[in-house]
Amino acid sequence: HIQTVTKDDKLRILKFLRRFFFRDEPLNHSIELIPESEDSTCLELEEYCSMSSLENNLSLMAVSTNGAIVGVMLNGKMDPPSDEEPEYITTCENPKFKKILRLLNYVDRNVNREGKFRGLNILEIRIISVDSNWRGKGIAKALLEKSLEIGKEKGFHITRVDCSSFFSGKLCARLGFERIYELNYTDYVDEEGNPVFSPAFPHTAIVTYIKKL
Ligand code: ACO
Repeated sequence: HIQTVTKDDKLRILKFLRRFFFRDEPLNHSIELIPESEDSTCLELEEYCSMSSLENNLSLMAVSTNGAIVGVMLNGKMDPPSDEEPEYITTCENPKFKKILRLLNYVDRNVNREGKFRGLNILEIRIISVDSNWRGKGIAKALLEKSLEIGKEKGFHITRVDCSSFFSGKLCARLGFERIYELNYTDYVDEEGNPVFSPAFPHTAIVTYIKKL
């Protein structure tokens, strides 16, 4: 069943994400954000997950009958876009995670280029992660449907997801989200012209989906 995440769940949620999302989300995986060893982590990503998402009553977890977390969806109210690089990116001391923050910021600036979302209250789906033993059973779908319900109840105008994974993109499309921006990983290059991220197939692009609530 699906539960709202509270601050008491913080340690369990981070432990879950360290086992799965920190390793297998396509961008994290492609740059080996954290080493293989079991107890390794990325403190900057932990901070990103905790930042407002665990105490706002907008995030959800799927729990099995024996009480284990099998899926997590961390959501939050989207910050208005800024022209300058936000301070938490500029000051990020982890060069690998900084690359990811920069990509997300690049996508955000492009999505907001025409100012068409100005003034709207947007629910951002920030992290989607399902236990690898439980995938393909509709857990992410159930979490997303519940997030849409909560977003509507709380008066958000739009839900937005920046999908770094082909599978989360497929899910959004299936739930009637509109594809509004797409960046192929091969087109996002460093100063030498080399792609910054080369995630494994079928993850070829980061795609922004929105749904009006
Ligand atoms: N192979 C083939 N198809 C798959 C797979 C897979 N490994 N995983 C999911 N799918 C398909 C499903 O068949 C379904 O498509 P359908 O509706 O056409 O049948 C769709 O993807 C979603 O299926 P769910 O069962 O609801 O998704 P699931 O519970 O398996 O979770 C998720 C999907 C969260 C992407 C999971 O694969 C995961 O945790 N991946 C690693 C972390 C990650 O990439 N997270 C998303 C990054 S984007 C973001 O966080 C905002």
